[in-house]
Amino acid sequence: MRMRFDILTLFPEMFSSPFQESILARAIEKDLIQIRTINIRDFSLDKHQVVDDTPYGGGQGMVMKVEPIAGAIEWVKSKDPSAWIIYLTPQGKPFNQEVARELSSRSHLVFLCGRYEGVDERVKELFVDEEISIGDYILTGGELAAMVLIDAISRLLPGVLGSERSAGEDSFFNSLLEYPQYTRPFSFRGEDVPEVLLSGNHGAIALWRKKEAIKRTLTRRPDLLTKAKLSDEEKKLLEEISKNKVS
Ligand code: ADE
Repeated sequence: MRMRFDILTLFPEMFSSPFQESILARAIEKDLIQIRTINIRDFSLDKHQVVDDTPYGGGQGMVMKVEPIAGAIEWVKSKDPSAWIIYLTPQGKPFNQEVARELSSRSHLVFLCGRYEGVDERVKELFVDEEISIGDYILTGGELAAMVLIDAISRLLPGVLGSERSAGEDSFFNSLLEYPQYTRPFSFRGEDVPEVLLSGNHGAIALWRKKEAIKRTLTRRPDLLTKAKLSDEEKKLLEEISKNKVS
């Protein structure tokens, strides 16, 4: 079933190129996903197409007005009441692979991109199903965050990555970081590829990769290991690596 992404934004031009390359372009061409931008300004009731105003109570910046956003969301919903409305904001739930997986099971996602000081609070109360943040930093608007979500969700959909590769093999699938990868040449500026990878011994290669993945996760992202669903073999390896028995 095709996944539909709608983006409500004041800057639709920002989305013209990111989805025209590589995997997402192919997914659009194969009709696995559909991405549409909707200009919030088109729903302004004002003859000057005003979409923002000064905040009640004073303070700096501008706030996005409720009426144009309401009009845009209600227009989308009138055609598909099941559309799920997401507002991108640093105040939202942190985005991660699990959230991407959950969202990939829906059929129609709508991303509301805020600008300036954000949207009138009543937009959230009346129209937004979920607020999502892509990290603890402030972007100039929700547009880049929407692109991140669309990219991460799309690659989880059947057929998008192609038959030769499936998202189920991702390291984040079982909460470990990826092991190191090498390709030719064997030797570069004195740095050689680990011998085991040339051994042709698939068991030894798999074991080496697993150990490297665990080592890397332990040193760089120990927080992931507490959440990881490790097999008995992986738990044993982790124990050995933690005790520094494995070099
Ligand atoms: N808009 C501005 N900053 C953001 C962030 N970190 N995540 C999602 N939307 C945003």
